[in-house]
Amino acid sequence: MRIAIDGPAASGKTSVGRTLAQQFGCRFIETGNMYRAVALAMARGLPLDAMTIDITEDERLLLNGEDVTGLLHTPELDQRSSEVATRPDVRTRLVALQREMAGRRDVVMEGRDIGTVVLPDADVKIFLRASSDIRARRRAGERGDHDLAGTIEQLRSRDERDSTRAIAPLNPASDATIIDTDQKTLAEVISAAADLVKEHLNERWHGV
Ligand code: C5P
Repeated sequence: MRIAIDGPAASGKTSVGRTLAQQFGCRFIETGNMYRAVALAMARGLPLDAMTIDITEDERLLLNGEDVTGLLHTPELDQRSSEVATRPDVRTRLVALQREMAGRRDVVMEGRDIGTVVLPDADVKIFLRASSDIRARRRAGERGDHDLAGTIEQLRSRDERDSTRAIAPLNPASDATIIDTDQKTLAEVISAAADLVKEHLNERWHGV
């Protein structure tokens, strides 16, 4: 089974995706971390063809064998990852790797283009929506950041780059179910997403 979860930054994809993966016995893959690792490697002066990127089953990101998981979620890499994500060579490389990972076992994969490009025939496609104000509050809370206006501005510039880039812009797939999260608790969003997966499993069981 392949479950695709897309949406803008801080829309709740990771919390929802990780819980679904546990619930349905899938591997969870955060593809944003791969773009972050490429940005980190480039900041270190490494060319794309000298990078190897692996994600372990327990979600550690290995860059040329080094565990860089703890270095990836910084404001600087938020922006740099979205810049490198506009490059065709980077996307071609990472999309191939993501498809390869999804071919090995059941996955919940989250990102921006999973339902549209990486796994266009995913069994369940979910797109999470949330207003920029709510996303900024969530992100500032996660990072213990008190500059809400700065966080809103950073999310805005990243959203704009992610949504307007020429290749694989952030967009719901035409067959994705959109979950608007603004008026829902995290538990309610998870429950709505889990219902979609159960519906798929029921249909598969009954051969619909
Ligand atoms: O999801 P996360 O915030 O970690 O992603 C970091 C950046 O990587 C995003 O802003 C986006 O530019 C890029 N990305 C992407 N396609 C994906 C996942 C992430 O372009 N599937």
